[in-house]
Amino acid sequence: MGAQVLDGKAIAADVRAQVKAQVDARLVAGGRAPGLAVVLVGENPASQVYVRNKRLACAEVGFHSVLHELPADTTQAALLELIDRLNADPAIDGILVQLPLPEQIDAEAVIERILPTKDVDGFHPYNVGRLALRMPLLRPCTPKGVMTLLARTGQELAGLDAVVIGQSNIVGRPMALELLAARCTISVCHSRTRDLADKARAADVLVVAIGRARFVPGDWIKPGALVIDVGMNRDADGKLCGDVDYDAASARAGWITPVPGGVGPMTIASLLENTLQAAELHAG
Ligand code: GUN
Repeated sequence: MGAQVLDGKAIAADVRAQVKAQVDARLVAGGRAPGLAVVLVGENPASQVYVRNKRLACAEVGFHSVLHELPADTTQAALLELIDRLNADPAIDGILVQLPLPEQIDAEAVIERILPTKDVDGFHPYNVGRLALRMPLLRPCTPKGVMTLLARTGQELAGLDAVVIGQSNIVGRPMALELLAARCTISVCHSRTRDLADKARAADVLVVAIGRARFVPGDWIKPGALVIDVGMNRDADGKLCGDVDYDAASARAGWITPVPGGVGPMTIASLLENTLQAAELHAG
């Protein structure tokens, strides 16, 4: 029996339609469109693609979106000055600074400068702290999107053993906080983890965000597990693939996300939800 596929493309389209309906209702009620400022520093080709996709999604749901493209040699002071202006701009509800930033810029300092109510990435220590305390405000987009996918399975998460492979600030750590809030028992695995295969094999929920093509083989999957693949890699043949060996894993998993078309579209859908949420916070 093969796994059921968690179709992130279709689920993200549902989320976008819900966001659009709420934007339309705000406009009918005399409100303004939610506004997102996207800041891109330098010319990282992957970042350019992500930013383009985020802006296309904003246009689809009727957001006001503004792109600030800055040269690779931008100083930290200049970037902080832009953040200050966006913080003060009443037409802007969300500020997204695409990562990674060039090395002369301290990304943590930039993230901390964003007003927490405009931090639609959910990366500000205030928002991470609120998530850790189970009183979330703006939640990091990828883990939030994964929780939306898991909810669509209809499976009860409380009490399940969840294993997260990867400990990044963008995915692994907030993912663990989300799963803990959903009352899973969590393990966060990383490069120093011992017996990784055994830990993965014990997972009812396995989230892999390590950035290595087909790193998780099929025999690491517990039969019936919920498998979420956050990876987006190119293999030696140039083919897009995730961090999990999809064909082998889908023979054992209960549910699995494809790559592409799984987690990726959900990250953008969560960004739209967060920007709408921020607009509502700013409307008082
Ligand atoms: N770079 C990779 N993922 C992300 C993300 O979710 N947000 C931002 N701002 N940068 C990223």
